[in-house]
Formats: sequence, C-alpha cells, structure tokens
Amino acid sequence: MTKPPLIAPSLLAADFARLGDEVRAVDAAGADWLHLDVMDGHFVPNISFGPDIIRAIRPFSRKCFDTHLMIAPVDPYLEAFAKAGADRITVHAEAGVHLERTLAAIGALGKAAGVALNPATPESAIAYVLDRIDLVLVMSVNPGFGGQSFLPAVVEKIRRVRALIGARPIHIEVDGGITAATAPAALAAGADVLVAGSSVFRAPPYERAIAALRGAAPQ
Ligand code: DX5
Ligand code: ZN
Repeated sequence: MTKPPLIAPSLLAADFARLGDEVRAVDAAGADWLHLDVMDGHFVPNISFGPDIIRAIRPFSRKCFDTHLMIAPVDPYLEAFAKAGADRITVHAEAGVHLERTLAAIGALGKAAGVALNPATPESAIAYVLDRIDLVLVMSVNPGFGGQSFLPAVVEKIRRVRALIGARPIHIEVDGGITAATAPAALAAGADVLVAGSSVFRAPPYERAIAALRGAAPQ
C-alpha cells in the first residue's frame, strides 16, 4: 500500500475577506500544509499578497506554511517572509541570477527551501542544488492564476525529477489544475504533495474535498 499524498490547499482560492477563518477551516478539515501563493505582478501577471498577510494568518494554524514565491527579484524579500512565519520558502529557478545563493540564504534563515519549475523549465535546473532543498515544485500550469487546466506534459517531467532525486529526502509537489481526476497521473509519476486551490476552496465541504484528493489512487 503506497503512502497517501500530502494535501496542501492553496489559499489563493479562499475567501480573502475571511482568510483567518479559511485557514482554520482547511486545517480542521485535514489539510497537511497550507500553500501560500505570493505574486508580484512582474514575475507573473497577477498580484496576490505578501508578508504582512502571512503574519496576520499565522496564528490560525500550526501546520506548515508552504510559501510559493512567484516574485523577482526574490533575494531582498526572503527575510521578510521568514520573519512573517513561512516554514518553507520555494523560489522559481528563474527568480534570480544565482539560484544556489538564494537557496543558501533561505537555509541560513533557518527555513526549508524549495525550487519551482515552470512548465517549460527543464528538470536540469535543479541538478546541482539538490543538497540545498527539501522540495521540488513542479508547476502543472503557468503560474499566476488559479483555476487553470492541468498540463499533461508535466507528468513526464515529474518522472524525471523523481529519477534525479534518487534516495534523497526531497518532496515532489505538483501545483496547478489538481483534481481527483488529474492527481492520479501525477502521483503515479512520483509526486507526493498535491497543491489544490479550486478543488478544495470551490468544492466544499472542505473535509470531503481533501479526502477525495488524498484518496486519489496512482494510476
Ligand atoms: C498558480 C498557483 C497555484 C494555484 C493553484 O500560480 O501557484 O498554487 O493557486 O490553483 P488551482 O488548484 O485552482 O489550479
Ligand atoms: Zn502555488
């Protein structure tokens, strides 16, 4: 029996007028992590929220704040996100000129580090930083918006990332268009964390939505 995947609801699809309550609700409904999508209107064509919002919702859950930074440059803001309560800080491979330096800086702040790969970014981008990270985020949509359709071409990339990681304790998180219908292929390829915005927050009750994703069998 394979281990069930971790479920990380993305707050991007939550009711922003009631963010604290939404965090508490998905935590109580069985979320493993909270996925926080930070967008700057520059690296991606949308703006979401920043460290002050993260600080404000921190008291509503003790679970991992899995922080996905879609911002460039990213280095000047790492400390602010660490202080605001992020547990893991994931940056895009293209977010700065020196990825290794950025990951070392996250580690020096005492936080876990991840690297996100856009749909068109090859897995080779992480080949020489594997010792710095505990997560690879494979984007299954182009970053910037919730509610987009899963891009099937990333399934093969997940398989290649899994091979690259080998026995290292590194999560593979898949993000974008994840539903009970698209999750099985990603899980079968080697993903172990599912980010889900619309398929949790737009499909209440949250407990049932999370359970449906956790129960999505690899195929
Ligand atoms: C997209 C974000 C995703 C997004 C997922 O840029 O990184 O985390 O919120 O939303 P859904 O699950 O609706 O595709
Ligand atoms: Zn995300």
